[in-house]
Amino acid sequence: MFPHPPLQPHYTSTEAKPAFVNRLFDSGAKYYDGVVDWGFLRSGSFYRRWALQRHGLRPGHQLLDVACGTGLVATAAQKILGSADTITCLDPSEGMLAVAQKKLSARFVVGRAEALPFPDNSFDFLTMGYALRHVTTFDEAFGEFHRVLRPGGKLLILEVTKPSGRAGASLFKLYFGRIYPSLTQVFTRSRDARDMMVYFWETMDACVRPEAVLAALRAAGFARVERKPMLGLFSEYSAVKS
Ligand SMILES: C[S@@+](CC[C@H](N)C(=O)[O-])C[C@H]1O[C@@H](n2cnc3c(N)ncnc32)[C@H](O)[C@@H]1O
Repeated sequence: MFPHPPLQPHYTSTEAKPAFVNRLFDSGAKYYDGVVDWGFLRSGSFYRRWALQRHGLRPGHQLLDVACGTGLVATAAQKILGSADTITCLDPSEGMLAVAQKKLSARFVVGRAEALPFPDNSFDFLTMGYALRHVTTFDEAFGEFHRVLRPGGKLLILEVTKPSGRAGASLFKLYFGRIYPSLTQVFTRSRDARDMMVYFWETMDACVRPEAVLAALRAAGFARVERKPMLGLFSEYSAVKS
């Protein structure tokens, strides 16, 4: 299952998506932290940490943060774990990883969710923050998440989800489709940063509904598959490898 259909004019086939997405994040990497900080009213660090705590991340856990980007989830996890010694951060964008490496001394790996370069049963906890829309297929990515988690291991996927009601969806479109990309251009004076936020909106708009994500997680073999909506905007998908 695909997170969304190919998004023209950026790319016309699913095969071309990874190269496009990689270029986008490499180019936007130096702006990412600043843009998401004000774009989400400075709530990002608190929210990531709060979500990790509520979903059971504890000191001693071996954590894999897939699509770590500039390290925002991993930095929040470090505060709970006490150090970054048991954190592995994976991302295909070397530009994003370079920013993350300046912030924490975790293990960093260049790679993609669909082909994790780790043995079976390696991790107690696996996170993916705001990157569900960027994988090629759910089947490949979720199959890999299931493979590398230990029995009893926990999966937590954080996402932004377009509201289903008309009024909420209109406000969502106004903010993420127009205001946020325009303000990004004004504040950063960077076309790359603006393009990153335009694509951010386009993927949210085109993304399959949460029921399809839950079905794909079950199909990958996960148990206790759940979605917790937050503030009508965020989705916390959680599951356990039984
Ligand atoms: C919006 S950023 C999220 C970064 C971070 N997790 C956060 O919470 O802010 C999306 C990240 O997903 C990464 N990404 C894109 N395609 C990916 C894939 N197939 N597998 C793993 N990561 C991917 C991008 O390089 C980028 O760093």
